[in-house]
Amino acid sequence: MEDGNRVLEIGTGTGYSTGLMCHRLGDELVTSMEVDPEVSGRAGTALGACGYFPELVVGDGLAGQKDSAPYDRVIATCGVMELPHTWLEQTKPGGIVLATLCGWLYSSALARLTVDADSVARGRLLGGQVSFMLARPQLPPALGILPDLESGEERAARIGTDVLDDWTARFVAQLAVPRTQRLSLSGSDGTEHVLIDVEAGAWAALAQHGKEWTVRQGGPVRLWDAVEDHLLRWRADGAPALDRFEVLVTPEAQRINWPKV
Ligand SMILES: C[S@@+](CC[C@H](N)C(=O)[O-])C[C@H]1O[C@@H](n2cnc3c(N)ncnc32)[C@H](O)[C@@H]1O
Repeated sequence: MEDGNRVLEIGTGTGYSTGLMCHRLGDELVTSMEVDPEVSGRAGTALGACGYFPELVVGDGLAGQKDSAPYDRVIATCGVMELPHTWLEQTKPGGIVLATLCGWLYSSALARLTVDADSVARGRLLGGQVSFMLARPQLPPALGILPDLESGEERAARIGTDVLDDWTARFVAQLAVPRTQRLSLSGSDGTEHVLIDVEAGAWAALAQHGKEWTVRQGGPVRLWDAVEDHLLRWRADGAPALDRFEVLVTPEAQRINWPKV
């Protein structure tokens, strides 16, 4: 952050990070958005008590705040599945967007992206285990009634779900199936590790038998096939760390790739 930067923050919360930016830049250069009116109100009171009066906006931060744009920096302190293009349109060419990219397997990484004159953003993940609550409109749907996990096709699994205990491997798996949620079901036969994409109506249920795993899958897409393919390709590429991953966000799509090491 540099002197004179105009900044948009998404997720005012307590107002703590808003206060730091007011201290650094001057409150006339700070806009902060919060979806929860009560939370925003409390932050406004706390900031006022410190002598800071930034622009506090109540609303869905995914829409940004056009009236005060363009910004030199957009900083999200709630996580997003996909970076909203509005943020890029409201950032000056050469400006920076800092946001945590998440999925519903709950691995996440902070991305630092530079925006060009065409509102395309490029950059890297910063590594580490950074996590924030997801932005409200992007929270996962309720699981509802579970599908019949006895149906579907069964095969030997190439990889077990224990791989998802690793933060980076989970992030890679999540790139393959970002809208998939995970749960465990304990029964008399042991534990079933279930992945479900509610919107797609797809599921995978894995069970461990000694050192081996089996997977049963149902629905229009094979979730665990996609996870295995992605993880095996990442391993074959040398299992690069998250801070090697490259991010590209265009008006059409968000791409996250890793290089071979
Ligand atoms: C981790 S907290 C922010 C922490 C804050 N920066 C601080 O210093 O206290 C995340 C905040 O994002 C807010 N939030 C969630 N979804 C949002 C959205 N779509 N737009 C704006 N704020 C959102 C939550 O209500 C919550 O207050």
